[in-house]
Amino acid sequence: MLSEDPTKRTLADLGVTDAIQLAFRFTELRAQLQRDLKRAKESGEWDMLRETWIGSPDSVKSRITTNWLRTAPPGLQPAVARDLENLINEVFILSTVMRSLDQLGTAQADQVAAQFLKLQQVFDTEIEECVDEIDLGVSRTFWLGRSSGVLTHITDSWLKTASPQLKRVVGAEFNKLKTHVESKIEERRTAIEAGAEEASLAREGVDLSLPGVIRPVGSHHLIRQVLQEVEDIFFSIGFSVVEGPEIETPYYNFEALNIPEFHPVRDDMDTFYLQLPKGAPEPLLLRTHTSPMQIRTMEKRQPPVRVIVPGKVYRRDNPDATHSFIFHQVEGLAVDTDITFCDFTGTIEYFVKQFFGPGVKTRFRPSYFPFTEPSVEFDVSCIFCGGSGTAAGGGNCSKCKGAGWIELFGAGMVDPAVYGFVNYDAKKVSGFAFGMGIDRLAMLKYGIDDIQVFFQNDVRFLRQFP
Ligand code: FA5
Repeated sequence: MLSEDPTKRTLADLGVTDAIQLAFRFTELRAQLQRDLKRAKESGEWDMLRETWIGSPDSVKSRITTNWLRTAPPGLQPAVARDLENLINEVFILSTVMRSLDQLGTAQADQVAAQFLKLQQVFDTEIEECVDEIDLGVSRTFWLGRSSGVLTHITDSWLKTASPQLKRVVGAEFNKLKTHVESKIEERRTAIEAGAEEASLAREGVDLSLPGVIRPVGSHHLIRQVLQEVEDIFFSIGFSVVEGPEIETPYYNFEALNIPEFHPVRDDMDTFYLQLPKGAPEPLLLRTHTSPMQIRTMEKRQPPVRVIVPGKVYRRDNPDATHSFIFHQVEGLAVDTDITFCDFTGTIEYFVKQFFGPGVKTRFRPSYFPFTEPSVEFDVSCIFCGGSGTAAGGGNCSKCKGAGWIELFGAGMVDPAVYGFVNYDAKKVSGFAFGMGIDRLAMLKYGIDDIQVFFQNDVRFLRQFP
């Protein structure tokens, strides 16, 4: 292969960003293929050639599929796929027509006819895919080229070396294929020319003096932007993102989170139940928080676990300036063998400073959630009055009502009882979890005083956050 094999690197690594650079890379590969074919012709090692190029899991074909095709930008992918298919065809055809019939194990007249038929089928597919004069020129040279076209190879490798009994049938099949190739190329050339003429007529029909169509460019909704910002901050400290179902069972939404039936906390999380057909095995509900994903994640993974879970949640809350019946949360969960309360507060402080800026202070107050122990409520110093509690024009700051602090979200160390539901050993592991309301975070950061604007889809509001 090439001294530094380009198929072992991605197109991005090779600096290939457009079709021209890609074509150059494939031309390089073709030159290498020609050298390998020459060597195989001399040594007779044809199996090795096919193995190297198309046969084995580490062949050129597999490497191009993995390193080029799968990682190519969407705009370049069709070109990579087409060039790869052509290259594979070339390997197949040339490694067939450069061998003698003897080497191919073709000794009977009907086997000869089958070999020619296979070639004709590949040719037919190829010629159908030619869309312009350039494509057609490449095909013409490949099949009819004087010095190393497919038909020349057939003359040298099959016709000249055929046994006296086969010579006549090889000659007849060869002439049939040659006529077929020549007439099909001519047919395709006429069709392409007619198509080009039609396209140019259509172009001439366009009045270029007319004003263009302005297509409005959209942007991400502010909630999506904030979710992205939160994800980026947690990515930077090693968390990964998982997502879960919005329709949940009471087991995941409540019971496995240590909230048994009739627990008073369920009153704060009244939700929407699905109407199910009679005899359904268990009720289903719209999740009231992203916390069920704590359980689903721990069921699937062993510690260390470090995930965040963005998503929509639902509650039967009456809509007002700070409540909606559908809103967004980001859950966080970190579990390992040695996670302490300090890791917990350090992580939250890092997040808050990254999100709101270095000047913002945090504090936590005792709180209660059945699935964390101890539980806390995190507050940030009011970003509107700088934590003073006083408005710019005097009097109490209206956002924090003079407190200087704004409540941010609930969190805590994972309650050992929860580990029992996921078969973790509560004596060996520890961890923390938090659940933030993304809509309220966005309101705080961007000074929005009514949560309802997120759901009304008024473009005058949305346009303010391009
Ligand atoms: C919970 O939902 C807990 N699952 C959070 C948690 C996770 C605690 C992990 C401990 C460990 P809470 O009900 O307080 O907690 O809701 C979390 C956040 O969701 C609130 O701080 C608030 O920002 C937001 N929120 C709650 N109800 C609404 C609502 N109706 N509209 C908009 N945001 C809401």
